[in-house]
Amino acid sequence: MMVEITGSLKPKLITEYKNLVKNKVFHKKGGNNSIIFANSHVIKYPTDPCFYQPKHTKKDFGIGKDLKENGFHVPEMHTMYLDYEKDNYFLVMSRHKMEELRKLDRGGMRIEEEFEEQFKKIQKLGYYTSDLWYGKNCAWDEEAKKILFYDFELWEGPRLKELEMGAIIK
Ligand SMILES: Nc1ncnc2c1ncn2[C@@H]1O[C@H](COP(=O)(O)OP(=O)(O)OP(=O)(O)O)[C@@H](O)[C@H]1O
Ligand SMILES: [Mg+2]
Repeated sequence: MMVEITGSLKPKLITEYKNLVKNKVFHKKGGNNSIIFANSHVIKYPTDPCFYQPKHTKKDFGIGKDLKENGFHVPEMHTMYLDYEKDNYFLVMSRHKMEELRKLDRGGMRIEEEFEEQFKKIQKLGYYTSDLWYGKNCAWDEEAKKILFYDFELWEGPRLKELEMGAIIK
């Protein structure tokens, strides 16, 4: 299958987003990905698809869903779109207003403790990653009044086998 679409977004919106990605529109750039803000959605796609493996988007999407089901505060994963032929890959998730954790601490330990507690729970579920620490790939979501975790594309662990993602990611 050359195009793989998983999720709940309407075809019209998917076509709209596909064209934004094709035209390399972006509002923000991270280490590996470009980010488009579109109303209540965030579209995330690899900045350089030549050096990119679709397993990253699959992990981002699949782990995000798994974490949400397990009660963690993460973006809602709406749709993942993988066009292997045209090298057009993207993920659509809910958009959140993020504030840096460090800025909120003001000398208190509460948020850092909250982070440690959540991080332990994530490990207990069966994930590990060097791409998450206090200040990296997590933020304060003022609306939800919770720590938001995001960007799961470099996560590993036995949990992936349980999710039957073992075959996908190896
Ligand atoms: N769901 C979201 N809602 C709002 N902003 C987001 C969302 N997901 C990502 N972003 C913004 O885009 C940035 C980069 O996202 P992400 O970490 O997923 O990509 P990355 O390529 O790994 O970037 P980095 O190297 O900064 O970690 C985030 O730091 C955040 O500012
Ligand atoms: Mg990141």
